[in-house]
Amino acid sequence: MRDPEIGEILVQHDELVHRVRELGAEITRDYAQRDLVLVGVLKGAVFFISDLMRSIDTPCELDFMAVASYGSSTDSSGVVRILKDLDASIEGRDVLIVEDIVDSGLTLQYLLRSLGARRPASLEVCALLTKPDRLKVDLPTRYVGFEIPNRFAIGYGLDYMERFRNLPYVAALEQP
Ligand code: IMP
Ligand code: MG
Repeated sequence: MRDPEIGEILVQHDELVHRVRELGAEITRDYAQRDLVLVGVLKGAVFFISDLMRSIDTPCELDFMAVASYGSSTDSSGVVRILKDLDASIEGRDVLIVEDIVDSGLTLQYLLRSLGARRPASLEVCALLTKPDRLKVDLPTRYVGFEIPNRFAIGYGLDYMERFRNLPYVAALEQP
């Protein structure tokens, strides 16, 4: 029996596979002859970035950041703390931040400021999911996988209290 906390499926597994390939092809075209570094935001983006990177057919490197945003389990506050910083310098390089989901956009706004100050040659964002109804700040998200309704999403890396990351699809959390 399916866990009652797993609600309606928002993005099916085959839609994820197809869209990630499309994004990879787009990034391949846009970043040919450049110096691409993919920066994954731990932990949610791990599944997406590993599939995305395998769909990119131009040289690229991989780095990670871990951030904690203060707030409740389903709402971020915009006050962000860096738990793990990048391993390497991004000065003069073409940086693509890879995020699982942009909700209020506050976490990403902080990351853009923090990484932008390190003088990369370019800085763009690729988010698997966005919730347009919730966005509080204006963000230049260059690549978006899917727009989803204002529901708390789980699966394909997204968690609710560290659970459900392993679902092969994206579903809405069913709260009792
Ligand atoms: P934001 O700062 O409100 O944009 O939220 C940023 C982070 O909160 C995301 O990178 C996720 O880790 C987490 N988050 C926001 N919305 C969801 C959701 O619907 N499901 C799971 N995690 C979420
Ligand atoms: Mg995240």
